[in-house]
Amino acid sequence: MLHGCLFSNPTHTWPFSAIAELIDNAYDPDVSAKQFWIDKTVVKDQDCLTFMDNGYGLDLRTMHKMLSFGYSDKTAVNGVQPIGIYGNGFKSGSMRLGKDAIVFSKSKSTSCVGMLSQTYLEKIGAEQIIVPIFSLTSAILSVREEDKASLQDILRYSPFTTQEELLTELNAISPPWSTGKTGTRIIIWNLRRTSTGALEFDFEKDRYDIQIPSEVYDEMTDTFPQPQLSSHIPKSTYSLRAYCSILYLKPQMQIIIRGQKVKSQLVAKSLAWTRKDHYKPNFLVSFYHKFLVPDTC
Ligand SMILES: Nc1ncnc2c1ncn2[C@@H]1O[C@H](COP(=O)(O)OP(=O)(O)OP(=O)(O)O)[C@@H](O)[C@H]1O
Ligand SMILES: [Mg+2]
Repeated sequence: MLHGCLFSNPTHTWPFSAIAELIDNAYDPDVSAKQFWIDKTVVKDQDCLTFMDNGYGLDLRTMHKMLSFGYSDKTAVNGVQPIGIYGNGFKSGSMRLGKDAIVFSKSKSTSCVGMLSQTYLEKIGAEQIIVPIFSLTSAILSVREEDKASLQDILRYSPFTTQEELLTELNAISPPWSTGKTGTRIIIWNLRRTSTGALEFDFEKDRYDIQIPSEVYDEMTDTFPQPQLSSHIPKSTYSLRAYCSILYLKPQMQIIIRGQKVKSQLVAKSLAWTRKDHYKPNFLVSFYHKFLVPDTC
């Protein structure tokens, strides 16, 4: 079945690289967010991860591209090259973290909501990927006739069961402390669990961090052996805050995890010797071509 193949995408073995896909999208020049917030929240007794940026946001057309596989028309802006090229990162990243995702976005012209949900696809017995999306042009939830079925499906299958709850999430995009009025908010629920049923993230150990507990870490390294140069495990392997602090050579966007800013470390400056190399993973192109052909599933 098509979505069975899609969601077993092995691109991200490590959960932080899945999170990095969402961060990269906000960092890229077509979005140019200045701030990126990562939080854990509880909606209707369910643990959720939220990712929010104050970039340019999406309209209906770009929301369709975001939720569909293989569309990317990113280009360099003022000489800044985009990180994203394959049109796959959001899907593989979000579906690595949980089974279901909802995206709220405000752009200059419109606000829109879209859902990529494995639970929804299973429940409706979908044979192909259906992504309910709707846009609204005014502050109240008045949707176009052709968008009504999408709104109903989102109310029925997402944790947000009333129009007011959806509006509250949309309005969270332009909080008083953000510098802009546009942006995107992604909420992921049905977070991935380990074989023992525990969440793969620890939200308790440090209330300003999101960590991978050592049992989960051990289980993952058994399944996907990591090259072990020494017995020392770098903090960036299990702490999202440490991981984000070294994510970019040129940090241009502030990352805020659970209300506290991440202090960027300029890795290149801390090394005695540095050399620049440009790496383009060509094998991925053939992987995605194969991956996108439904017959291979
Ligand atoms: N936070 C965001 N704000 C606005 N647009 C976004 C955001 N995230 C994704 N998009 C849009 O969705 C599209 C698809 O994103 P996705 O990460 O799946 O692919 P990509 O970034 O183009 O390529 P790659 O697979 O290399 O990451 C992007 O090209 C961009 O237009
Ligand atoms: Mg991307």
